[in-house]
Amino acid sequence: MTKDRRELARRPDTAAIPTAWEYAPAPESREVVRLQDRYGLFIGGQFVEPLSNERYTTIDPAHEEPLAEVAQAGKADVDRAVKAARAAYAESWSRIRPSERAKYLFRIARILQERSREFAVLESMNGGKPIRESRDVDLPLAAAHFFYYAGWADKLEYAFPNRRPRPLGVAGQIIPWNFPLLMLAWKIAPALAAGNTVVLKPAETTPLTALLFCDVVRQAELPPGVVNIITGDGHTGAELVSHPDVNKIAFTGSTEVGKAIQRTLAGTGKRLTLELGGKAANIIFDDAPLDQAVEGIVNGIYFNQGHVCCAGSRLLVEESIYETVISKLKRRMQTLRIGDPLDKNTDVGAINSKQQLEKIGSLVQSGVDEGAEIYQPPCKLPERGYWFAPTVFTNVAQSYRIAQEEIFGPVLSVLTFRTPDEAIEKANNTPYGLSAGVWTEKGSRILAMAQRLRAGVVWANTYNRFDPASPFGGYKESGFGREGGRHGLESYVALDDA
Ligand code: NAI
Ligand code: MG
Repeated sequence: MTKDRRELARRPDTAAIPTAWEYAPAPESREVVRLQDRYGLFIGGQFVEPLSNERYTTIDPAHEEPLAEVAQAGKADVDRAVKAARAAYAESWSRIRPSERAKYLFRIARILQERSREFAVLESMNGGKPIRESRDVDLPLAAAHFFYYAGWADKLEYAFPNRRPRPLGVAGQIIPWNFPLLMLAWKIAPALAAGNTVVLKPAETTPLTALLFCDVVRQAELPPGVVNIITGDGHTGAELVSHPDVNKIAFTGSTEVGKAIQRTLAGTGKRLTLELGGKAANIIFDDAPLDQAVEGIVNGIYFNQGHVCCAGSRLLVEESIYETVISKLKRRMQTLRIGDPLDKNTDVGAINSKQQLEKIGSLVQSGVDEGAEIYQPPCKLPERGYWFAPTVFTNVAQSYRIAQEEIFGPVLSVLTFRTPDEAIEKANNTPYGLSAGVWTEKGSRILAMAQRLRAGVVWANTYNRFDPASPFGGYKESGFGREGGRHGLESYVALDDA
């Protein structure tokens, strides 16, 4: 070892990382995506002009540049889409053999794989997420969901032993903007596998991958009307929810809208699943492998700019290792690369919308005002577009808004604990209950914690890991119903006695 390298090795953990090695830009090409200037609504197997005659422009949040014009579907458009789905349900989809339905789903999965680069680039352009994530997480998982549920399509009687599963009919599905294509897959794959037809509404800021998916539906030669995609904002969503001929609503989004939907549906007999917000605790015990845990903390809150319902937004650290964890975390945050979502080296991309950026800004300001200590690594944010630097708050009291409310941005609030009981009490002290993380060497402690955490998903020594075979969903204000796995089918079937 040379003298210089010895000196480098002796540098304390907290020292700033030398920035001698700059990354050269490595942008993914936009050429693989061919956008139309304007899109209609995908109803009955073809694009039609909106009867509402209303349109809006969808943008690239990293550059604030327009990408395309899309339709704002009105009441008559929603009705037209539901009618198309009803006709397809009655005339084709509920009648064809389940093994044939499976073939269509396998076909969709394979086409998504084949066209994954195109989809990944478009997802990053319209949503602001780093290409590394859309390419390595969103797309492979979306295809995996179709593969997984394709496998169930002709085996439903094994999913529900001694019961006779029957499709529900037409499912209305409303999804958010944080994982546009992946949420589409979570919704459409189980619904079709179980024999339902769908009308899906993507979020207003991220309609483009859902519109590109219409191309996949046609390529797979799905019978017309089995999948209908209508774009528009919350008004369109509300029309879909209240349409009398929809049998089931599946919603992912804010707790506020979820509650409103539940009120609308009360007493109608329509089935409902809600996947809402979260404020997950990521709990680090003193025997945890700390470097691995720090990676898990970063992945837990800075993945997808923190626009993740199950984000590990409350870090609970055992008091004895607090200083070490925080200094390692800050050092790691200095290496995060923020910027162009299409650059393959980017770790943190753009905030999805101006509205979301303002919400993050005001919650962060409340943290400062209430007395928490803020840290952001030195980084240069692009001038145009919506950006927020990775942020960590220490000296946080449980009563602060940043410890209670879902921020849905790259903002972490740190709390400490002394005993497992105290960790459980703090972790469960939230109206939400979607997910949690536990980091410890002890297997027995993992199991004991998982038993007592009121959260639908508990990750042990990892975070934000998804698999189509594993059910996902919440407790309390995080919603009800499960997506993924055999459980995910249950929301799309009626069960008769065999
Ligand atoms: P939102 O709940 O308003 O939007 C989600 C979806 O619901 C979109 O497709 C939207 O068009 C639709 N929608 C809105 N109002 C509706 C209504 N009355 N009836 C039917 N559909 C309706 O969420 P928003 O405003 O985009 O974000 C606000 C906050 O919600 C975020 O800051 C975040 O905290 C949380 N959120 C949580 C998500 C999750 O995955 N759990 C996803 C998106 C947002
Ligand atoms: Mg909203």
